[in-house]
Amino acid sequence: MKEVEKNLKGKWVLITGASSGFGMDFANIFAESGANLILVARRLEPMQELKNKLEAAHKIKVEVIPTDLSTKEAPVTLYNTIKAKGIIVDALVNNAGFGIYGEFIEAPWEKEEMQLMVDVVNLMHLTKIFLKDMVARNFGYILNISSIGGYQPSPLYASYSAAKSYVLNFTEALNYELRNTNVKVSTLAPGVTRTGFQETAAKEKPLSTYQKLSMMESRPVAEIGVKGLMKGTPSVMPGFMNKLSIFSLRFTPRRVMAFMVYRLMKID
Ligand SMILES: NC(=O)c1ccc[n+]([C@@H]2O[C@H](COP(=O)([O-])OP(=O)(O)OC[C@H]3O[C@@H](n4cnc5c(N)ncnc54)[C@H](OP(=O)(O)O)[C@@H]3O)[C@@H](O)[C@H]2O)c1
Repeated sequence: MKEVEKNLKGKWVLITGASSGFGMDFANIFAESGANLILVARRLEPMQELKNKLEAAHKIKVEVIPTDLSTKEAPVTLYNTIKAKGIIVDALVNNAGFGIYGEFIEAPWEKEEMQLMVDVVNLMHLTKIFLKDMVARNFGYILNISSIGGYQPSPLYASYSAAKSYVLNFTEALNYELRNTNVKVSTLAPGVTRTGFQETAAKEKPLSTYQKLSMMESRPVAEIGVKGLMKGTPSVMPGFMNKLSIFSLRFTPRRVMAFMVYRLMKID
């Protein structure tokens, strides 16, 4: 991608959730444009494989730092580890995340707390830590991954969609605060996309008809996100079906919204 090559070739991009799905696509996209990468997630093996593949193919440097982003200390530890290596992070992709499918009352609190730590608290903490350095240098890019679920109340994904609303509103506000700097902050709100997400959210749950019909492949979605980030677009939504369904919500009373989303997400 020309814009990435122009701005980030030879620089370092930190990608969380780089062991699967969108994270791997982001790694490929930035690597193809000559950026060095720091890959972060819990599973070492897939990241190590990705590192070997990308270093051989693109003559870039890749660091792998296995980290559990559900712990309170993870962001500071990660920052210190990167600093100790003498690396300056010029782009951060806060992509790690997962959802819990089902009635809110069913999931154990520990799982809810983990979801909030990964999807919200540490996304915000990493943004705070790395943004300070970026603003000091007056250069940088941060892409936070939200979801179309963040645009509405989503029964059966109640806490997940609320977490993604946080990411959406937080990032759009931050984008405005940074309008007079050379630091770009965007959020990408994918709809249903083929990654490991659905399996993590609900093991052995078949997809609903809506999910099957609106399913996108992850690479084009990731590309749309990176293009939006390069332009500094506050929020980016991929796919005509996703755009249409979110646009139609503007004319829908909130009580009806919850009912509609429930019908769409429920297994038939
Ligand atoms: N796919 C969709 O339909 C969809 C739609 C909207 C938004 N999203 C968002 O897209 C982002 C990427 O998800 P995906 O779709 O690519 O799903 P995925 O294939 O399941 O990938 C999720 C990534 O997050 C990482 N992760 C999860 N918990 C973590 C933890 N405690 N510490 C560190 N890393 C952790 C996973 O790595 P490890 O398991 O190795 O730790 C994995 O690399 C998420 O924020 C998700 O909410 C997905």
